[in-house]
Amino acid sequence: MSVKVAMLGCGTVGGQVVRLLTEQSGDLAARIGDDVELTGVAVRRPNRHPDVPAHLITTDAAALVESDVDVVVEVIGGIEPARALLVQALRAGKSVVTANKALLAEHAAELFAAAESSGADLYFEAAVAGAIPLLRPLRESLAGDRITRVMGIVNGTTNYILSEMDSSGAGYAETLDEASRLGYAEADPTADVDGYDAASKAAILASIAFHTRVTAAQVYREGISSVTPADVAAARALGRTIKLLAICERVDSEGAEAVAVRVHPAMIPRTHPLAGVGGAFNAVFVEADAAGSLMFYGQGAGGAPTASAVLGDLVAVARNRVVGGRGPGESSYAALPVRPISRV
Ligand code: HSE
Repeated sequence: MSVKVAMLGCGTVGGQVVRLLTEQSGDLAARIGDDVELTGVAVRRPNRHPDVPAHLITTDAAALVESDVDVVVEVIGGIEPARALLVQALRAGKSVVTANKALLAEHAAELFAAAESSGADLYFEAAVAGAIPLLRPLRESLAGDRITRVMGIVNGTTNYILSEMDSSGAGYAETLDEASRLGYAEADPTADVDGYDAASKAAILASIAFHTRVTAAQVYREGISSVTPADVAAARALGRTIKLLAICERVDSEGAEAVAVRVHPAMIPRTHPLAGVGGAFNAVFVEADAAGSLMFYGQGAGGAPTASAVLGDLVAVARNRVVGGRGPGESSYAALPVRPISRV
């Protein structure tokens, strides 16, 4: 017996997952208690993956999901066909590991329902803050606490751009090109610079932290495309720097508890710990009643860091299968309303 794994997608992150799976197969088997066998890699353009053994490559993702596999790893990104494929996998009782923040932020209800219908695992650590262990601490380690606020930098591309503009006075367009070249930006980088990527991540963070459901459309969103070198210089003259922040809070809304979630650029003092977060790094503060303040920091984008989170989830779901257990499902019991934000 072995744990059979199908990969959907093999881009910047997927290529690193395949590499690490292959290079570390012995260690992973020891940690899981069984061998991991990669049975197929579904891609759109088969000729573009010379590092993947040819017999593993297929263009028929649905057939791969339907085949005799235990775990489906999705790193295609975007809504379709990822949504349909993952619902298919989960309904069939296959564990799913995904890095797809846009999908989770829009279709979490459908995905969790599909997972519940068969008792399958749905893990998505890589969807938020790249290599940083953040979602499982929120879902598991802090499950006994009451989280009041999650706030920080969750998009590596915009942080790279803003940091470069701040430190070297570089222009917006050239730093965006560099972020794409380094594998930080989304396939369509407007998702980064217009704040959609951070809004998806904020929706996921708020949903988990506050045990409710927030979708990306409910997140107040402003990106950085209108931040100019003059703005950056003005912030600097004031002893400040500009960062794109995601802020998820428990708030009072007409006497009742609600959540408010927003993403926008903010001028922060250069003495603030977030001011020193450079490059494609992410940093997230969590405040909870009993735990107090926590800070999570690390590489938030890029192939290998994100693959690290995917592999961690893969080990967890494979181990669950080996021992006949299951990870946490959706904890949507508070059903807190989302307080709209029209202006900040
Ligand atoms: N484009 C994303 C970012 C990748 O820059 O943060 C990681 O989710």
